[in-house]
Amino acid sequence: MTNISDILMNRRTIRKYTSEPVDDNLLNELLLMGCRTSTTGNMQVYSIIVNRDEQLRKDLAPFHFNQKMITEAPVVLTFCADFNRFNKWCLLRKAEPGYDNFLSFMTAAIDALLVAQTVCIAAESRGLGICYLGTTTYNADKIITLLKLPRGVVPVTTVTLGWPAENPDQVDRLPLEAVIHSETYRDYSLEELDKYYKEKEERSDSKQFTSENIKQTLAQVFTDIRYKKADNEYFSKVLLQVLKDQGFLE
Ligand SMILES: Cc1cc2nc3c(=O)[nH]c(=O)nc-3n(C[C@H](O)[C@H](O)[C@H](O)COP(=O)(O)O)c2cc1C
Repeated sequence: MTNISDILMNRRTIRKYTSEPVDDNLLNELLLMGCRTSTTGNMQVYSIIVNRDEQLRKDLAPFHFNQKMITEAPVVLTFCADFNRFNKWCLLRKAEPGYDNFLSFMTAAIDALLVAQTVCIAAESRGLGICYLGTTTYNADKIITLLKLPRGVVPVTTVTLGWPAENPDQVDRLPLEAVIHSETYRDYSLEELDKYYKEKEERSDSKQFTSENIKQTLAQVFTDIRYKKADNEYFSKVLLQVLKDQGFLE
């Protein structure tokens, strides 16, 4: 599949990989393409940690709540917001960096996420499968220690990469009109919410997911099981401390 529209419209997350390795040259090409992505002020305030080593991936696994993709995928990429390199360059060139603040973290995090997504599209265009791991921001403190990330560097997302060993069905999306606002934001009426979430709620997999989790509604699976308030509050504290320790809240 070479047509970019087909790639984008037919993609799905891949969580099972064959044991076939990903060639170094191919990976380099994907990373090169990723680094052509737009970047704030052409500063490239990101770094990408490539993990192929089996032991290191095993060590990383618990920080991603032992999601099996970490150890089964031949390549794990951790995308980091990184002002360390840029700050050091500034100091070397007699320039005073002013990037020890939250805005700069956001700038670098946006840069890192854009590169990540381009690497993912590049990988998918070559037939590879990818899976993002949102667990990176939950356990950023532990990942920082393991990957030896210095002050100024914060991991923001992880992508596992490998040759697909599954071909899952595509999952649903909300209708386009649910997420698009023309000119200004149009807030949602109850009727619109009913309409936009109807298809998702009526899918047999959603119904099964809801009953398996002994919940009355699909939304409750999110609020009570998958993304709980208590967890969100706990990991927010951890992440805020990480931003402080890494020098982004001075
Ligand atoms: C930022 C981010 C974090 C994610 N974290 C995880 C994760 O920790 N584990 C997982 O299995 N999938 C993860 N995913 C994949 C999503 O579950 C997946 O994209 C979504 O269910 C839609 O499926 P699709 O990509 O096949 O369309 C993540 C995706 C994103 C964008």
